[in-house]
Amino acid sequence: MKADVLLGLQWGDEGKGKIVDFLASEYDVVARFQGGPNAGHTIEFDGKKFVLHTIPSGIFFPKTMNIIGNGVIIDPFILRKEIQNLTNLAGIDVYAGLKISNKCHLILPSHRLLDAVQEQSKGISKIGSTLKGIGPAYTDKTARCGIRTGDLLLPGFEQKYASLKESHMRSIASYNLDLQSVLIDGHDFDSYEKQWFESLEILKKFEQVDAPYFINKALWDRKRVLAEGAQGTLLDVDFGSYPFVTSSNTVAAGVCIGLGLAPSSVGKVFGIVKAYSTRVGSGPFPTELNDEMGDALRKQGNEFGSTTGRPRRCGWIDLVALKYSVMINGVSHLFLTKADVLSSIDELKICTAYKVDGVSSQNIPYDLSQAEPVYESHPGWKADLTTITKAASLPVELKNYIKFIEDYLGVPVSIVSVGPDRTQTILRKQYK
Ligand code: GDP
Ligand code: IMO
Ligand code: MG
Repeated sequence: MKADVLLGLQWGDEGKGKIVDFLASEYDVVARFQGGPNAGHTIEFDGKKFVLHTIPSGIFFPKTMNIIGNGVIIDPFILRKEIQNLTNLAGIDVYAGLKISNKCHLILPSHRLLDAVQEQSKGISKIGSTLKGIGPAYTDKTARCGIRTGDLLLPGFEQKYASLKESHMRSIASYNLDLQSVLIDGHDFDSYEKQWFESLEILKKFEQVDAPYFINKALWDRKRVLAEGAQGTLLDVDFGSYPFVTSSNTVAAGVCIGLGLAPSSVGKVFGIVKAYSTRVGSGPFPTELNDEMGDALRKQGNEFGSTTGRPRRCGWIDLVALKYSVMINGVSHLFLTKADVLSSIDELKICTAYKVDGVSSQNIPYDLSQAEPVYESHPGWKADLTTITKAASLPVELKNYIKFIEDYLGVPVSIVSVGPDRTQTILRKQYK
């Protein structure tokens, strides 16, 4: 057996959580392989809504085992809140349905503080980080001084913590910024740190696994494994619009590193694409609409960050960027989300090329901020899609819009999502 991968092809928030949840009952294992609580994956069913940050989106199916792989970084405080929410609102036994790699790096309270001061000091060139401590925690991982989940069970943890915190505090002091005003999720540092330590006790209750052995054994035992990406391809630290990116490899290759899988063990790659584009945080965004149309997309699509509540920047779909994402990830099937949001727009635009220095190109330039979008217009559709259940019943204009995307990208669109609920998901072409 091979592990299938599901990931975002844009700047995140494509609707990955919704689709993983939709697919989860077909899989024995769902595994997160990178990122941390900067992710916000929304799942809706039976009139309830959940936003997951660290826990994989297969958690609602008792027969599916969820794994947090070694490529993920964990903030115990945020994980505890997620667990409480799932227990209280859905009665989920998270301890039974989730195992955690022993090699996940921990996000310390001082990583959160560092993230805040580093962003503050950048002024107008700030990344627009989620302020979850992602950059500093991955920095310590590659600098070989991070603390891992496995360390929790060994003697000397408190000492390791104290020495890493001290080095962070020295660095923070050098910024000469007003620390009194910096709150972490509404708490001052001491109160946050206290709750962080309490949360470690919850983290310790989970079974720790060696992810490579666990995942490879599952495949040898003919179990079906789905790897769930966070963020999106254009936020990848190597392949995204650097430096306006996150700090992990969000692309399909990240699955091998984040779970301990050989490239030959990766099967299908499901690319999630929003029917338009959004981006939250700073950085170039060629098809961005800073006008009434952009506002309308934000309102209609409820485009406000699942993690931070920030308004998302909105724009037309960008096939140049998507073609690049399809190439890097080896996407085998596309799943198109939020098609319903485009209903009742008279004229839709699709970016099919960039102009860079006046020259037309279908490649991503080194500096994406230099790309001017070239559009083709498409007639919109007037139908309410949210109650449609069969692909054949989709309006002809949407069928043409999808066919255009498919032809340009050379990959089939297998699923069309027409609303946030689990049931608002239409099978168009087989993906199994
Ligand atoms: P993720 O990070 O990729 O999992 O996406 P988010 O959960 O951050 O953002 C996607 C948002 O769109 C969430 O509020 C979802 O509930 C919602 N959503 C997902 N699919 C659809 C869809 O097809 N139509 C509409 N209207 N909303 C959707
Ligand atoms: P999901 O998994 C959208 C963005 C931030 C910022 C940049 C760096 O829900 O799709 P970081 O906190 O990682 O240092 O922020 O990346 N970002 C996301 N944008 N969806 C996400 O995750 C994101 N995770 C990080 O807004 O621009
Ligand atoms: Mg999200």
